[in-house]
Amino acid sequence: MSVSAVAADPTVRAPLPVLGRDVTVPLVTGGEVTYAALDYAASAPALQRVWDDVAAYAPYYGSVHRGAGYLSQLSTDLFENARRTVAEFLDCRTGDQVVFTRSTTDSLNLLAAALPDGCEVFVFETEHHASLLPWRDARVTYLDAPAGPRQAVETLERALADRDPHGPALVCVTGASNVTGELWPVRELAAAAHAHGARIVLDAAQLAPHHPVSVSALDVDWVAFSGHKLYAPFGSGVLAGRADWLRAAEPYLAGGGASRTVTRRADGGVDVEWHDSAARHEAGSPNVIGAYALASACRALTEAGFEALAAREERLIRTVREGLADVPEVRFLSLFGDDAPRVGVLSFVVEGWNSSHFAAALSAEYGIGVRDGLFCAHPLVRRLLGSGPGAQGECGAPEAAAPGEKSLNAIRVSFGAGTPDEHVERFVRAVRELVRNGARWTYHTVDGRCVPDTSA
Ligand SMILES: Cc1ncc(COP(=O)(O)O)c(C=O)c1O
Repeated sequence: MSVSAVAADPTVRAPLPVLGRDVTVPLVTGGEVTYAALDYAASAPALQRVWDDVAAYAPYYGSVHRGAGYLSQLSTDLFENARRTVAEFLDCRTGDQVVFTRSTTDSLNLLAAALPDGCEVFVFETEHHASLLPWRDARVTYLDAPAGPRQAVETLERALADRDPHGPALVCVTGASNVTGELWPVRELAAAAHAHGARIVLDAAQLAPHHPVSVSALDVDWVAFSGHKLYAPFGSGVLAGRADWLRAAEPYLAGGGASRTVTRRADGGVDVEWHDSAARHEAGSPNVIGAYALASACRALTEAGFEALAAREERLIRTVREGLADVPEVRFLSLFGDDAPRVGVLSFVVEGWNSSHFAAALSAEYGIGVRDGLFCAHPLVRRLLGSGPGAQGECGAPEAAAPGEKSLNAIRVSFGAGTPDEHVERFVRAVRELVRNGARWTYHTVDGRCVPDTSA
């Protein structure tokens, strides 16, 4: 779609209604302002539609699977329908399984626990820790950060060419970076993996909220994503894809729901026959409301149309980039280059500022919620910042540094389908003012975070 078509299309202009759009927060400088939630990459607000669907279902909520009552059967139907909705949303192949999990992290840990014996894993060092770390029992090859999509494919091909082609192997790759927002060449990486007899799992935590994800068209073996980044913050996630490794694996959790029959043996032990379906890895009472909410979000985004959502987001990205283009103190972080295609996730540092201080001022003086730190992708952010391990910060609790010190962390602004233009425009104005005039308030460090000084 051209720029002029985007401007003329009213459906592209409107954000999708989300909860919290009227919430006001106090400013340290006095008064209140509507909260600008610009941390979608961490957790997106709930879509109003998701909330309404959940509220409409809640009175009918009942135990699932073996419950004999009417509401139990209704809830079981809704739960299994949610599975089908997710399969459609992901354009899964016949025979693929959709397993409901707690999150992307949970999904990838489940897959890690289901790897066949001797499986090798290939993962770029640029991944989110959820993709980087779960493969503890496998032989893992960490691939160096590529300078572009083509280099990513070449790097993977080189690494796979050296492996034993007869053993099982898995490539884990992100669809969109949670640091730079850049899109990765998933289809090409999948082709490279398959050409070398390896399988591939797509971490779609940041991709699925912004672009359609087709398991069939991308030809990935599995995909993982989280409800809370997809406007459905009710504690559910998904692992979808090939059934064979999942069926052959020990259940992720052992317990009711995963077991078909349990029999006491004459020698005193028990024999268990586990389910072959997705239930094998869903032991315990499932999160029915979470699954239902996630399916509702899948339907809402599909109906809104990803093309329109992406076009609008493109415009918001341009608002940020062009609005700050003449502020040399602001440096955006990028692996593939400033113009690489990306989702609405942008990380940056501001010369002369500590990132925690800058983020605190955006919040306290402008009512804008962004994130600062290393974004659970320490190797990538350190590489982009050119900093060493000294920059270490825990996820969600960036390293303490006094206001004014050189920054060792970055700031991330992220947005999506529910973001009004005004939030992004306010962000651009706030960054410009802070760089030009400095903070209007004083801040100090408490428990590793910069906070406004309220003692005066
Ligand atoms: C690319 C990516 N993968 C995985 C995750 C982990 O998601 P969750 O915390 O929902 O498990 C995140 C979260 O930020 C992410 O950005």
